[in-house]
Amino acid sequence: MSFDHRKYRPVPVIDKPDRRWPSQRIEKAPLWAAVDLRDGNQALIKPMSVAQKRRFFQMLVELGFKEIEVGFPSASQIDFDFCRALIEEDLVPDDVHIQVLTQAREELIARTFESLKGAKNAVVHIYNATSPTFREQVFNVDREGCKAIAVKAAGWVKEYAAKQPETHWTFQYSPETFSATETDFAVEVIDAVNAVWRPDQGQRVIINLPATVEVSTPNVFADQVETVNDRIQHRDHVIISVHTHDDRGCGVAAAELAVMAGADRVEGTLLGNGERTGNMDLVTAGMNLYSQGIDPQIDFSRMKEIVALVEEITDIQTHPRHPYAGDLVFSAFSGSHQDAIRKCLARYQEGDIWTVAYLPIDPADVGRRYEEVVRINSQSGKGGVAHVLERDFGIDLPRWLQQELAGVVQQDAEQDGGEITSERVHRRFNSDYLSVPMGWTLRSYDLNRNAGPEKGAVQAQISIGDSSQPVTLLSGRGDGAMSALVDALNRRIASDVKVVSFDEYSLGDNTEANAMACIRVQVGGVTQSAVAMASDTTAAALQAILSAVGRVEAASTVARAADA
Ligand code: KIV
Ligand code: ZN
Repeated sequence: MSFDHRKYRPVPVIDKPDRRWPSQRIEKAPLWAAVDLRDGNQALIKPMSVAQKRRFFQMLVELGFKEIEVGFPSASQIDFDFCRALIEEDLVPDDVHIQVLTQAREELIARTFESLKGAKNAVVHIYNATSPTFREQVFNVDREGCKAIAVKAAGWVKEYAAKQPETHWTFQYSPETFSATETDFAVEVIDAVNAVWRPDQGQRVIINLPATVEVSTPNVFADQVETVNDRIQHRDHVIISVHTHDDRGCGVAAAELAVMAGADRVEGTLLGNGERTGNMDLVTAGMNLYSQGIDPQIDFSRMKEIVALVEEITDIQTHPRHPYAGDLVFSAFSGSHQDAIRKCLARYQEGDIWTVAYLPIDPADVGRRYEEVVRINSQSGKGGVAHVLERDFGIDLPRWLQQELAGVVQQDAEQDGGEITSERVHRRFNSDYLSVPMGWTLRSYDLNRNAGPEKGAVQAQISIGDSSQPVTLLSGRGDGAMSALVDALNRRIASDVKVVSFDEYSLGDNTEANAMACIRVQVGGVTQSAVAMASDTTAAALQAILSAVGRVEAASTVARAADA
């Protein structure tokens, strides 16, 4: 009985038939603000030290972030010290704004300004919660009382900023729990704050709209943002920012729709660390733009470093399926996916528009290797097996042999239940197809084309054996070298030898073997395939036949011995 949905009610939606955002397109990156060092940090089991904050900050700067919320200096000595270090050691580039959060209380605002003394550019960010739950249950204030908290704090911010004119100030206000606040009231509070700050008179102002807890589908949030966008005063002088969390798993989607609804700026964290289910993930949001041909203005090619640093500092592992960053997100195990990827990759040329099946972006763009794309397990098919042999060992197989080898590999995978490395596929290929059975190595061959009545027929003398064994001489005739060998074998082993499939390939110049032959034979009704590599195509073809027949012979010897 404790699992009872009647305990909850749906969030109110806005009746907004004039909504425009659904037909907007995002055509450029929003302004990004990274809040890892504040919101992300506040959610950690072990908050960051000053040294860790320095490294994280340095990385954010290198990636291209221009607004970085560095802490909550009035609430934490570490954050205060970090602000001082950034300023006193001149660690903030001229085009980067550091941002700090403070509650809407005078003594905390005063301490916040103290932490920022000497900064070139700084954003002072104040907030108070505006939703009915907070007004009624947490603060016990009515709408007027709630608005007054914001207005008073705006006044203090203005006053304290005026005492530190060496800094270029931006003021930021967040009606915390905005998405759970009546939108008309949020507009009223925002207007009241702006009436103090006067963005219309040149003060840079950010109005940040948080989905402090994500409570609705992203379209409802977009409606709320579009309403603020349409109704607040001095809109042209205000930067509208959004700050979404991921409680329903839609933090990125909500931010994206909010940008369509008019937001200029998006706050988030790398890989989405943050309170509860996390903040909006800057990696996913940025890479979503990138995959649409839009410059995200952030260098995500350093994805591996990003993941390593975030994991180290937050002590949180990245989910292997995390968009764009997880270990498995560019891997295909399924046969049909592998087949499609392989075909598309074979056609793709540097400089082409990326249209590879199943891969939304080129893994190489975020430092991933093509080796990771196709991986083999029991779900994989011939395409995948062929792909890894071709990719890692330069071995190209005909379709019929791909199918056969894939079956063998699949059996291995089913037995083991896990992944089969490309080295293991290669070993299996070597042992089942390429290795030469004992006594069946081609030592030499001599072909003579007959003249006279049998003009064109080939007479072959072929010697086979191993260094440890006496050489066997075979002799036969046929239309060509292969049929002459088949003839010789038919005479010698008195079984019906037939070539069922045959393909040959040249192997580039840099290998000792220049040719590869793939063969499938039937020997007395038993089918067997083999592959051989040799310095010339004839030798490869002859060795392939010998290996296949030798394998059948070896198997029947073993069977006879077992019977006896
Ligand atoms: O989630 C939130 O509402 C916040 C604000 C302080 C912006 O982090
Ligand atoms: Zn937050």
